[in-house]
Amino acid sequence: MRVETTQVATRWRAINAGGVDWAANWRRKVEVRQAHPVGMRDWDGRAQRFARRAAELNSARDPLLRVLAEGVSKDDSALDVGAGAGRYALPLASLAGRVTAVEPSPGMRAALAGALAERGVESVSVVAGTWQEAVVEPHDVVMCAHVLYFVADVVPFIEKLDTAARRACYIYIRVEGREEPLLPLWEELAGGPFPSEPGFADLYPLLLSLGIRANVRLTPPEGGGGYPDLDEALGQARLQLGLTLDQHEHDGRIREFLREHLVERNGRLSFPTRMQSAVVWWQKE
Ligand SMILES: C[S@@+](CC[C@H](N)C(=O)[O-])C[C@H]1O[C@@H](n2cnc3c(N)ncnc32)[C@H](O)[C@@H]1O
Repeated sequence: MRVETTQVATRWRAINAGGVDWAANWRRKVEVRQAHPVGMRDWDGRAQRFARRAAELNSARDPLLRVLAEGVSKDDSALDVGAGAGRYALPLASLAGRVTAVEPSPGMRAALAGALAERGVESVSVVAGTWQEAVVEPHDVVMCAHVLYFVADVVPFIEKLDTAARRACYIYIRVEGREEPLLPLWEELAGGPFPSEPGFADLYPLLLSLGIRANVRLTPPEGGGGYPDLDEALGQARLQLGLTLDQHEHDGRIREFLREHLVERNGRLSFPTRMQSAVVWWQKE
């Protein structure tokens, strides 16, 4: 089989913002977080929740899909890296002619396969494995939503995204961590600094240091969370605070904090904290 190659984006002069080693900054944040229960992720165990999110997505309003819709057509092939249960791979199949979804978690892949079968979508093929190990030919557009937080060695990961894209590369990333509304509680209970994930503020200068000058569209501000009831909010808060299943000594205080801070909106409970994500994308030249 002939392996197609594609050019790495014509690079701009690298800018080293603030004299910081942004790749080392990224690695440190990921490693500190992954060494803490806060950073543990059981993707198989989360597949059903991600499948629900995929089913609930409003394609017309979703900020990432709105940007993708401006740049992707039926003539295009699209690659979704870390596709999860298909929150974006599924609607992307309506924009692009064909889609490849790379996903390492068997549980996520099973949820995606179920959704594809249920909707009768045949234009999405699934590649099992991490992005680091995946062998895929270049696609017209490449996207990667909410995955970089878990990648310590992020530069080769981004370089591979860029190399796999013939025309454009899209990254979706949070500006604020999802735990943001819980930070006052964290300080009270843990007493030390929160092991926060790397986010948009770490990514953009990192891209500049790689000679990539990306477009950015910030999403409308959202409230944090969004839970059907206090028990679900408590379960999520426990997870976000890195508490294990048998650690219940803080439940009373967490419940009290949630009662004080959550507000009811459209029948759901959420934090009033304003949070954003960013669609970060660049064209190949
Ligand atoms: C937060 S979920 C996001 C899923 C999907 N992109 C979405 O936005 O709904 C992160 C996904 O990245 C996958 N993942 C984690 N490490 C990865 C890696 N090194 N390469 C590719 N995917 C990875 C996980 O299995 C998980 O499905």
